[in-house]
Amino acid sequence: MTIVLATHNKKKRAELARILAPLGHDLADVPLSDVEETGLTFEENARLKAASGCRETGLPCVGDDSGLCVDALDGAPGVFSARFVGTHGDDEANIAKLLDMLRDTPEERRTARFVCSICCVYPDGREIALRGTCEGRIAFGRVGTGGFGYDPVFLPDEAPGFTMAQLSPETKDKLSHRGKALALLAEKLMQGDTGVKVIVLPDKGAIGQAVGDLICDLVSQKQDAVLGLATGSSPVPTYQRMAARHRAGEASFQNVKTFNLDEYCDLPEEHETSYHTFMREQLFSHIDILPGNTHFLDGNCADEAAESERFSRAIGAAGGIDLQLLGIGRNGHIGFNEPGPSFTGAAYRTALTESTIEANSPNFVGSDIPMPHYAMTMGVGQILQARQIVLIATGEEKAKAVKAMLEGEITPRCPASILQEHPDVTVYLDPAAAALLADTPRTSL
Ligand code: F6R
Repeated sequence: MTIVLATHNKKKRAELARILAPLGHDLADVPLSDVEETGLTFEENARLKAASGCRETGLPCVGDDSGLCVDALDGAPGVFSARFVGTHGDDEANIAKLLDMLRDTPEERRTARFVCSICCVYPDGREIALRGTCEGRIAFGRVGTGGFGYDPVFLPDEAPGFTMAQLSPETKDKLSHRGKALALLAEKLMQGDTGVKVIVLPDKGAIGQAVGDLICDLVSQKQDAVLGLATGSSPVPTYQRMAARHRAGEASFQNVKTFNLDEYCDLPEEHETSYHTFMREQLFSHIDILPGNTHFLDGNCADEAAESERFSRAIGAAGGIDLQLLGIGRNGHIGFNEPGPSFTGAAYRTALTESTIEANSPNFVGSDIPMPHYAMTMGVGQILQARQIVLIATGEEKAKAVKAMLEGEITPRCPASILQEHPDVTVYLDPAAAALLADTPRTSL
């Protein structure tokens, strides 16, 4: 893969090239515009540089921001490290100012750390953000001629008796803040494009626009695309976007077939709270899809096995699902596959859990039929057969389930966790749903 590095610093470029080359990644030599480092944190600045480089080149772009945080100076010079004296990159003057400020600071209070934030932004909006630190102390004078920046006055704990400027490039890579952040990046890049892609957008509207456009683009490339669709609040903005693109003459669904994930049992399909009605009101009546091309499970079927068989055959006859849209329950369910002892396969009748009944009951306020406690749902195995899966989750009430899905073990106790095994899953989150993720790729598009 070709990666762009958003820096004009030749020494940083050399460090990155040394670490990425063995992984088969080339650094593209593309001139980039200067980016003003207006962020208040290293991570913000790294992201600004990477996002700008990615926008300019259309290639994945790595940006970094690093600096020195001195405890006796309350973390200064921090993000201002390279411009401590005002002008950018005057290493000599920056060091002189630092030594002067620490003139009366005794050795035990000269603790400090180098921090490096690295951010890789991809053209599709994915983002990897990582951080490396190197603990040490500030020396009383300059020693050594290697490295750059504050290296001659930084004594790393991991190389007792030496300043950073005295270390060989190989030793420096192993213990430096940038070396550590890059090693984490290398690990991520080695995982390549497999695994779940996570995109965090500012709000529901932005997600609806992105996913709606993705579906419309798929449909314009493959006019007879087969879509797996979900109900609930999560896909509503997506359906609004699809309808808007259709109204604008930009998308036709005439040859598209759809299969809905689930339908309640013991509820007439024409009832105002049924998923048949939901889909008609939210999407189908606003686009040019043919009613005969929309498929649902029959929640009132007399023979569950025969209904499951019919539905599987219909999906097979349509050529399989190209894109499956999903929401996620607060308990980690997908479709109505509730947490249980094992993953399910084809469609079946399921009992809804307390959590789901509580979450969906508001839709039945004022209804003459109370919220059903059973539903017919596509099974997990069937969902996994879709060629591409897109899951949307928004709001803090989804944050725990999202964390379990993406970072937890793969277990039927969190049915969505199985998506970690699918080769093409993209999860769209708002910041609240992403809040508990340890290592969130955050998008800035
Ligand atoms: C809907 C479905 C469910 C929902 C999930 C989230 O067809 O199968 O899995 O996607 O319960 O619902 P919302 O989006 O309302 O939070």
